[in-house]
Amino acid sequence: MTPSQAQTEIDKLRKELNYHSYRYYVLDDPEISDAEYDRMFRKLQALEEKFPELVTPDSPTQRVGAAPLEEFETVTHTIPMVSLDNAFDDGEMRDFDQRLRKLLELDEIEYIVEPKLDGTAVELVYENGLFAVGSTRGDGFTGENITQNLKTIKSIPLRLMSGKIKIPERLEVRGEVFYPLAAFKKLNEQRLKAGEPAFINPRNSASGSLRQLDPKLTAERPLDMYVHSLGQVIGYEFKTQWEALETFKKWGFKINPLSKVCRGIDEALAHYRKLGELRESLPYEIDGSVVKVNSFALQQRAGMRTRSPRWAIAYKYEAQQETTQILSIEAQVGRTGTITPVAIMHPVMVGGVTVSRATLHNEDEIERLGVMIGDTVVIQRAGDVIPEVVKVIESKRPKDAKKFKFPKKCPVCGEPVVRLEGEAAHRCQNISCPAQLKEGVRHFASKLAMNIDGLGEKLIEQLVDKGLVKSFADLYFLTKDKLAELERMAEKSAQNIIDAIAKSREVTFDRFIYALGIRHVGEHMARVLAKEFGSLQALIKADEERLMQIHEVGPQVAESVSRFFREKKNLATVERLKKGGVKIREAAKPKAADQKFAGKTFVFTGALEKFTRDGAERMVEERGGRASGSVSKKTDYVVAGPGAGSKLEKARELGVAVISEDEFLKMVGK
Ligand code: IVH
Repeated sequence: MTPSQAQTEIDKLRKELNYHSYRYYVLDDPEISDAEYDRMFRKLQALEEKFPELVTPDSPTQRVGAAPLEEFETVTHTIPMVSLDNAFDDGEMRDFDQRLRKLLELDEIEYIVEPKLDGTAVELVYENGLFAVGSTRGDGFTGENITQNLKTIKSIPLRLMSGKIKIPERLEVRGEVFYPLAAFKKLNEQRLKAGEPAFINPRNSASGSLRQLDPKLTAERPLDMYVHSLGQVIGYEFKTQWEALETFKKWGFKINPLSKVCRGIDEALAHYRKLGELRESLPYEIDGSVVKVNSFALQQRAGMRTRSPRWAIAYKYEAQQETTQILSIEAQVGRTGTITPVAIMHPVMVGGVTVSRATLHNEDEIERLGVMIGDTVVIQRAGDVIPEVVKVIESKRPKDAKKFKFPKKCPVCGEPVVRLEGEAAHRCQNISCPAQLKEGVRHFASKLAMNIDGLGEKLIEQLVDKGLVKSFADLYFLTKDKLAELERMAEKSAQNIIDAIAKSREVTFDRFIYALGIRHVGEHMARVLAKEFGSLQALIKADEERLMQIHEVGPQVAESVSRFFREKKNLATVERLKKGGVKIREAAKPKAADQKFAGKTFVFTGALEKFTRDGAERMVEERGGRASGSVSKKTDYVVAGPGAGSKLEKARELGVAVISEDEFLKMVGK
């Protein structure tokens, strides 16, 4: 192929990839399968590799791949990024409207009411249509240059779509980057399973993900962005906010579809309430509605205060918060030794759930909140995860309130607790700490790992306390007699457990990796590693560099995996597991002929009777398909078991094929 032929082909591929990425990420309405997209993408990658001089910064291949930074540069915003005044009731909103009507000498004002996303504000600058610089809000005047990280967000266009519409010489748009709730929930589940502390809330993880020095880490997070306002624009004019939003849409940005033009304050308040009703069911968090004057000419006339415009206001919704009293604070030791302070409280209902424990995260957070035992505190459920303490009501502090002293020694094994440089968490460093060991064994035996039936918490507790299990490999050397000596252990149940342990000896490679409890390696990552390496030997041999070559592996995972297998103790455990009879069924690389589900997405719902959810997902993935948790237009099949509810309904609504478990098994060929 000559360079000019390559150029033509590259141009064509980029155009198509950009179009399909827009259909998928912005419109949520794809026209082709993921597999087809991947094929085109790889074709482009191969061509660009062959003709590196043809690589341009707006190529879809350039979303990831930038080298980690030492630090972020500073960006000065052409126009300061101000914030909004808040209103908390209808009265304050009517005051706002009245002030404006007087100022503008109008009987009625046309507003636009938009959902106020609870994410992190950023600015994107386009020069002649090309995404040039992206930055955080910072102090409003200067922010950090996070261009490389923003490029990893697929709904941000790298080049403005043109079509019939003019491209300005310079365009600064502003919007909110957010962490979709379902993904946030999943992320935290994975983190907890991998022995890492959960993130506080979606907003913090969005801003944390954006502030990674290594864009590869940002790319691992499924961030998304809605664009909602303007900075400086050269070479284009808008008359209204509505027109601006419509134009953003034509340029390829993602615009929140719930924004609405409202005539007068009553209509605006009605839409605020409607958004409030929708709030619970939205796939992202909103903390209010923003009410803006629609006309830019009127905005101009209304003008600014020091830090906020006179023409807009944020009308807040109530948070899912409650007050209660802290009875005690416990230090909890996790599987990887992380010590988390947990507030034990008088039970209260928050957003329909009874809550009696709330995380205090770490020592810095306790310090920041100034929280003491006995305090009355405001707690909230953030993004459907572990409740957290928001603030202390100091006026209600009892005289005998006590300060919580962070333990210097592990509350379980008594060994010293350390706080490593650069980390917020305290850790028990003793890898044989019974708390860690117990958690480790519990994880090892869990359903998605070695799946040892009947090896419950109480039993693990005894096994570790009596010294029968010092590493999880010891499980495979237990005898019925030894088990029968334990409290409340009848001969029959001892035999059942021995049988269950025996059954677990035969295990697939991905489950085995997951069972080892390597930090940052959850179920999904275990599957990625199993698929990539195929054998334990190959995985053990892989160094950080090799691990980093895998698309889904970031530096954290690479470091953690390679460190795990460098540790002599861990290698000894692996050897002992083998000696105990554990046989890993190593994943044969799937053959292309078996890839009959390539590009197909399945959703499993209802009580499955013929197979487990995990097993079903595995069957799909082994055949090149994807299993998803929610039904959308992108779903190809919904497999419904008895009692299937809303997902089944949604599938019918969208016209997605619904099949039974038997039909699925037939498709699989079983
Ligand atoms: S307009 C001058 N519209 O809320 C107008 N802001 O305190 C500036 N926000 O961090 C912002 N959704 O990023 C506007 N639809 C929306 C918004 C929105 C969320 C954020 C904004 C800023 C904060 C304003």
